Amino acid sequence: MIDIVPYDAVRHRGGVREILAKNGWEEQYIAGQLAGLDVLSGDQLPGTRAKVCVSETEDSLSGFVSVEYREWNRLGQLQGLAVDPALKRRGIASTLVHRAEQFVRGAGGRGLYVDTPVTNAPGRSFYEALGYGQAYVMPEYYDEGLDGVTYLKLFAKVYTLRAGGV
Ligand SMILES: CC(C)(COP(=O)(O)OP(=O)(O)OC[C@H]1O[C@@H](n2cnc3c(N)ncnc32)[C@H](O)[C@@H]1OP(=O)(O)O)[C@@H](O)C(=O)NCCC(=O)NCCS
Repeated sequence: MIDIVPYDAVRHRGGVREILAKNGWEEQYIAGQLAGLDVLSGDQLPGTRAKVCVSETEDSLSGFVSVEYREWNRLGQLQGLAVDPALKRRGIASTLVHRAEQFVRGAGGRGLYVDTPVTNAPGRSFYEALGYGQAYVMPEYYDEGLDGVTYLKLFAKVYTLRAGGV
């Protein structure tokens, strides 16, 4: 059973830090991610909307996702996603990303994109499994010698036939 609840820095910051550390993230990336969650779960800038959620599995924090939606191009950007290594391959990240996608759809969005290191093979397989396609590689995005890859998912367009016309 996976419960998805809004991120509350007081309750969840320590648990998110632990999940990132267990995933082997270096301190600079953990600090950047936690600062990002504070921004995204706080007051929104004009023209943007954001959502940060955590998942709870058997009453303990099992993962989190954050997404920022920008009105100017109607795209959401997944800013953070991670799951407790002990609880992987149970559909937790899929549930979190679907929740982020629902949020973007609800805001009138066209789709989402996400950046990840080119070396993150599990993350890349995950996004591909959820229908995200590789859009481009950005050299040295994460650090010297560490390129980033951006994945994009545009929601399927639904065309309705007008009676008697195109
Ligand atoms: C990537 C990550 C979020 C996936 O979380 P998860 O809860 O295990 O993912 P799910 O169980 O929802 O997986 C859904 C599908 O994605 C694919 N997938 C997930 N992990 C995979 C892996 N390690 N190798 C290959 N495919 C994988 C599979 O197709 C999987 O379906 P299946 O289990 O039925 O085969 C998790 O491994 C993680 O936290 N990694 C560290 C942080 C990270 O890389 N974040 C994302 C990029 S910044």
